[in-house]
Amino acid sequence: MEYASKEFLLKNGKTCVIRRTEEADAERMIEYVNVTAEETPFLGREPEEASFTLEQEREIIRNMNAAERNILLLAEVDGVHAGNANFSCVKDRARFRHRCGIGVGLYRAFWGMGVGTVLLEELLAAARTAGYEQVELEVVSTNEAAVRLYKKLGFQVTGTLPWAFKYKDGSYADFLLMVKKLV
Ligand SMILES: CC(C)(COP(=O)(O)OP(=O)(O)OC[C@H]1O[C@@H](n2cnc3c(N)ncnc32)[C@H](O)[C@@H]1OP(=O)(O)O)[C@@H](O)C(=O)NCCC(=O)NCCS
Repeated sequence: MEYASKEFLLKNGKTCVIRRTEEADAERMIEYVNVTAEETPFLGREPEEASFTLEQEREIIRNMNAAERNILLLAEVDGVHAGNANFSCVKDRARFRHRCGIGVGLYRAFWGMGVGTVLLEELLAAARTAGYEQVELEVVSTNEAAVRLYKKLGFQVTGTLPWAFKYKDGSYADFLLMVKKLV
């Protein structure tokens, strides 16, 4: 879907631009998926599973942009790629079309400076524009920064999913299911 770029001033004085991810970003998106998979245990991929080709990545972005009710936003801080957030419909059937699921992730270097807040505020506004009535996400229960951010933005914990992730060392992580109504 369409999204008009916006500029924000962060609390550290840096400028954050939120814009749509474009096909020209494909190479930096591959790098982003690889690096963030290494930097945090809270995203859903082992590092070696983050291996899209340039053409696959271009196609993912092309499809996201062509879809009327999907978005892949990108945040830049002083011109440097800081991270992304996306939403898509949970299922393309009449009984599900009021619900979207979201995801967000930033490079570690950009955590804690307010980028996640502006990125998600823009994402939620776009979800409302797209006609969604409910936004949903799953978050690792120990991911304090993310859970606090989501609560700050009005999400409520509605359930848990035990053993949602299994890590290579044999340990597990549970998910919290969080929901925000847009209407
Ligand atoms: C989760 C994430 C997107 C948050 O983005 P961010 O830009 O770091 O968050 P912000 O600086 O906008 O802070 C938003 C709120 O989160 C909370 N927060 C941020 N960092 C925190 C920390 N280290 N500990 C506890 N709470 C924290 C605060 O409540 C903060 O609000 P406040 O500053 O008004 O008090 C980011 O840390 C990230 O990408 N983490 C790794 C990937 C990930 O976990 N993605 C979510 C998967 S569900």
